Amino acid sequence: MVSRPFQVKCSGRAGLIGVARPAILAPMVKHRVHIKSFGCQMNKLDTALVSASLREAGFGLTDSVKEADAVVINTCSVREHAEARILSHLGHLKHLKQHRPGLVVAIIGCMAQRLGQTLLEHDAVNIVCGPTQIPQIAELIAESLAHSAKQLAVTAEIRHDAEPARQALEAFELAHAVDGEQGPATPGQAFVRVMRGCNNFCTYCIVPYVRGPEVCRPPQAILDQVKQLADEGIKQVTLLGQTVNAYQYTSGGKTWSLADLLHRAAEVEGIEWIRFVTSYPSEAFYDDILQAMASSSKVCNYLHMPAQSGSDRILRAMNRHYTAEQYLELLARARAVVPDIAVAGDFIVGFPGETDEDFQATVELVRRARYRNCFIFKYSPRPGTTSDKRHADTIPDEVKQRRNVELLAAQEQISAELSEAYQGRTVKVLVEGLSKKAHVNPTDGANHPQLVGRTATDYIVVFNGPPALAGQFARVRITQTSPLTLFGERID
Ligand code: SAH
Ligand code: SF4
Ligand code: F3S
Repeated sequence: MVSRPFQVKCSGRAGLIGVARPAILAPMVKHRVHIKSFGCQMNKLDTALVSASLREAGFGLTDSVKEADAVVINTCSVREHAEARILSHLGHLKHLKQHRPGLVVAIIGCMAQRLGQTLLEHDAVNIVCGPTQIPQIAELIAESLAHSAKQLAVTAEIRHDAEPARQALEAFELAHAVDGEQGPATPGQAFVRVMRGCNNFCTYCIVPYVRGPEVCRPPQAILDQVKQLADEGIKQVTLLGQTVNAYQYTSGGKTWSLADLLHRAAEVEGIEWIRFVTSYPSEAFYDDILQAMASSSKVCNYLHMPAQSGSDRILRAMNRHYTAEQYLELLARARAVVPDIAVAGDFIVGFPGETDEDFQATVELVRRARYRNCFIFKYSPRPGTTSDKRHADTIPDEVKQRRNVELLAAQEQISAELSEAYQGRTVKVLVEGLSKKAHVNPTDGANHPQLVGRTATDYIVVFNGPPALAGQFARVRITQTSPLTLFGERID
């Protein structure tokens, strides 16, 4: 366990109090809340829990800011760019509040935790609530609305491994993870958190500071949730953790691993596909997970395992505990056990001190790893992280940009080759819904909305079919490919 202080103070500005507990939660008039979410899958899951808790407290939810009495913004701090987008959004809300001073704006999530009560200095903001205080969000909004958009902040403690914060979060998760009324954001699919926080302290990363130390959830709670989701018609669950493969929980003399969870979740009737993200490249938590993939048709043959860099020197500076060769060795093992496994990676370009030679080692790793897909990020110094304290952000943005483009090009070539291998094949996809982009249908040349779905190996497939198929499985014959998308015709 790490013993770093996770303290963000919540101090007294005029009109600011700690935790509000109004006597009556349900408002007399049904107030409406608009929620906007930035950030990763953890945040999306939190947004779903918060939405369910607000509805339970008597609020209505609305897609329109104009109709809303309160706006909740779930925020991300992982890169400066993520925070800049949120600040720009707050700029719009500030403008709106000039005409509607009673509008309550609540900032929740990682940026709320990072910046704490200083966010209240922004003219648009009424409530600041960190990720481990979200069980209080309905009360805070009710309190603020009842007192003419009063300012409130609760980001004081992020030690969510400590009781009773852990109990409150667990109870909140259990109460709101299955929301039969609203249903899932993507039909047929749900996220299930298996662990909170992270202990790794990769030197560039803000997550351990804003999400706190790693805490694994009890296996029974996770599996009960999977069963309830299956009863609600969910077909695919994605188990979430920052280092999900390191999941461990000891209870009744047995230590549970992620592989145990995968096996048990696969026994749940109605659940057809199980995914898990994100995996840390680690010897210790690997082979039994690959065996679970190989032995169960329900465990999707997909691994999201970020390498971050191909240079051993940079990996050391990042506090990642492997070398490029060890990483490639792990991939080789995965492919030996699960031959058709699809692998996705994350990379950071322009880490302080990254030379052309370091960067070329990353390009080389990408070429050898043969990812299906890579997420590439330009290094963004995060205040308070070790790399920010130790090193200046030395690599100019033009160089980061150039490396980003070069790495993307190397990956695109591999993605194109891997996609082409699907030409003429028939794949099973879980349909997500109508594609947001209009695609030209290769079968009739028409430019009309298409369905979009994903294969178990996470390939995006665009094809013709009725929107009612969302949340169902379909079989599609691939007729055309691009690096990131497969196109095809549905086979009835
Ligand atoms: N827990 C996951 C990822 C969490 S953050 C893991 O360990 O893999 C998602 C991705 O954002 C990271 O994989 C990393 O590539 C990127 N990232 C994190 N901090 C960053 C920073 N300061 N600058 C640029 N990219 C960053
Ligand atoms: Fe951040 Fe590293 Fe933890 Fe991932 S493993 S969340 S990159 S500290
Ligand atoms: Fe996720 Fe961003 Fe927080 S990546 S954990 S929402 S900092």
